[in-house]
Amino acid sequence: MKRLYLFGLIAGLSLHAAAAKTGPDLLDDKPAFIASLIEQMTLEEKIGQLRLISIGADMPRPRILKELAAGHIGGTFNTVTRQDNRPMQDAALQSRLKIPIFFAYDVVHGHRTIFPIGLGLASSWDLDVIAKSGRVSAIEASADGLDMTFAPMVDISRDPRWGRTSEGYGEDPYLVSEIARTMVKAYQGESPAASDSVTASVKHFALYGAVEGGRDYNVVDMSPMRMHQDFLPPYRAAIDAGAGGVMVALNSINGVPASANTWLLQDLLRRDWGFDGVTVSDHGAISELMRHGVARDGREAARLAIKAGIDMSMADSLYRQELPALVEAGDVEIGEIDSAVREVLGAKYDMGLFHDPYRRIGVARDDPKDTNAESRLHREAARDVARQSIVLLENHDQTLPLKKGGTIALVGPLADSYVDMMGSWSAAGVAKQSVTLRQGMLDALGDEAVLLHARGANITDDQHMVEYLNFLNWDDPEVVQDPRPADEMIAEAVAAAEQADVIVAAVGESRGMSHEASSRTSLQIPPSQQALLKALKKTGKPLVLVLMNGRPLELNWAKANAEAIVETWFSGTEGGHAIADVLFGDYNPSGKLPISFPRSVGQIPTYYNHLRVGRPYVEGKPGNYTSQYFEEPNGPLYPFGYGLSYTGFELSKVRLSSPTLPREGTLEASVTVKNTGQRDGATVVQLYIQDLVASVIRPVKELKAFRKVVLKAGEEREIRFSLDEDDLKFVNAQLQRVAESGEFEVQIGLDSQHVKQQRFVLE
Ligand code: NOJ
Repeated sequence: MKRLYLFGLIAGLSLHAAAAKTGPDLLDDKPAFIASLIEQMTLEEKIGQLRLISIGADMPRPRILKELAAGHIGGTFNTVTRQDNRPMQDAALQSRLKIPIFFAYDVVHGHRTIFPIGLGLASSWDLDVIAKSGRVSAIEASADGLDMTFAPMVDISRDPRWGRTSEGYGEDPYLVSEIARTMVKAYQGESPAASDSVTASVKHFALYGAVEGGRDYNVVDMSPMRMHQDFLPPYRAAIDAGAGGVMVALNSINGVPASANTWLLQDLLRRDWGFDGVTVSDHGAISELMRHGVARDGREAARLAIKAGIDMSMADSLYRQELPALVEAGDVEIGEIDSAVREVLGAKYDMGLFHDPYRRIGVARDDPKDTNAESRLHREAARDVARQSIVLLENHDQTLPLKKGGTIALVGPLADSYVDMMGSWSAAGVAKQSVTLRQGMLDALGDEAVLLHARGANITDDQHMVEYLNFLNWDDPEVVQDPRPADEMIAEAVAAAEQADVIVAAVGESRGMSHEASSRTSLQIPPSQQALLKALKKTGKPLVLVLMNGRPLELNWAKANAEAIVETWFSGTEGGHAIADVLFGDYNPSGKLPISFPRSVGQIPTYYNHLRVGRPYVEGKPGNYTSQYFEEPNGPLYPFGYGLSYTGFELSKVRLSSPTLPREGTLEASVTVKNTGQRDGATVVQLYIQDLVASVIRPVKELKAFRKVVLKAGEEREIRFSLDEDDLKFVNAQLQRVAESGEFEVQIGLDSQHVKQQRFVLE
């Protein structure tokens, strides 16, 4: 098939001007090859390349095959098997110019094997661990015939009401940028053309995480300084790492929808950042330009989007319907269509599809027999990544680790839930393949202890909420209510707790509560579960909370009442085993929060790297006329970078190699970190910088480096960080990145709030 295909394509090309060279040479010359192809294309074929359709939603299969054979589709998404993709590629190759299509999918935190959600991955603060999740995802997705993932999702979120906070990597520009770079490299491997790579399409460009009030799809109004300093760096990092695609966000930015935003897509992305890959709209975003009220009709919407720089329109027929007439009327230049087509063909070229359209689909005889990938899951990797993503928030009286003995009562609506363990956007993961906490604990305990189990409560008793969460899945509802009265369920759980030595309560959110279109006004654990926890507390038995959730929750009651709190996010396929590893001490927790946990929803936004103010709140001395709320202290309940271990760590004073940093030179900041406890363990040493006086207000601190350190009990190690001028740069009022001379403070700690500091001067 491959040889025949190449022959057909090259024979076609060699008839044309750009094919002055011989056929095979032309295929090796990307610009000439693509130019030659564009020269042969009709307007209809060109517009076809700009169409990205959702399989299963947009049109019936026979029609898809017909449209593919006519060259009217450029790419598809939402299929996950080679058997599904092959006939579509066959059809595309029957088209006049035999241009292959690409296959995309939302591989966000795993493909078949599901890893922890974004917030969980970020909690590992370990780029190798995060890379492992991305590489496995690429291997699995490409083996299923996929060429592109709509990931990484690098939207900075400082507002946990936003449901998509779960997908991202938290609140900090430096940490999220490091992860963005890591994920792009992991997905794209040696090159996007490799048969085990998928092209990364970074999203959602841009600033989607800053939607007003945390309401999904809403407006973003932000100063250019803040954008460049805090919110844009992760997208830039992904692009600098070579991301082949960019998905454009659904929000507006300072009055202009991202999908019609020429400044965003041309000035910033292409001109300033030099992006030369493909841009895709988000689902239906071009039609939504009418709802935003910037386009009178479909024709105007299509014109705005193509002129702004959206190459492919996702699940939207407007390009197909409107572009031909727009070109004919001269409202859109053919050159503008050609640029978009060039990017689409360029992406396919980079994916290696012109060299071999079946590069990832392979041949039928090699198709895996187990369609659900049971035998192909990477369970060991999933367990390892998941346990490194767990954050220990509280542990009084060494309640944890639990002994593998006696009687344990496991309660809560999330204790035995397969589907929630997978988290939102769990791609092609099959819920039943996940290990629930109950199963994980049973496997860990064998017959060494008795594990009693009672559900205790439904996720929520609010029927309206249940209906909302099940909206998309009427046939197979995700939130299944136990019909028993709440009191009866609580009584059953209390009875189990009374027989036990310790209670493990798995509570939090269903996965759908932290998802697209799942913004919340409250960060509380739902009342049904709170009632359960309060009843359990009354038994007087030690209470261990295992939290599953996709956003920071309000944990005041939990902090005051639980003996231990373990933040597990949604941990993926091997979640139950990973959590059990932590609960029983087979793994010593090392995760740190990538996002601040506010004390209450009213405190939002709460983020550690906030700007200084003229009347700052002073901890311990709150007074009138300072910047604060009068009912509760400022600052988070659990800060960015925080997380405990079963051992203790101590940091020495900070040592600087010199009191000054010369412009072209470096300065070394070092500390000694010691494991002061009885167990081996790992922690994350974090380096923050504060610029003491500058031409614009600077944050109280900013993360600039971190290092995960594994230490045996009693071991100590010197950790050295090298700083240079670049680490001190910021975006000034003229939007230039500069480092201004003067005094800086370097702060090193094991979280963002408890730090040791030293000062130095930039010359
Ligand atoms: C809409 C979501 O906003 C986006 O993240 C996703 O990639 C697309 N749908 C495709 O599923």
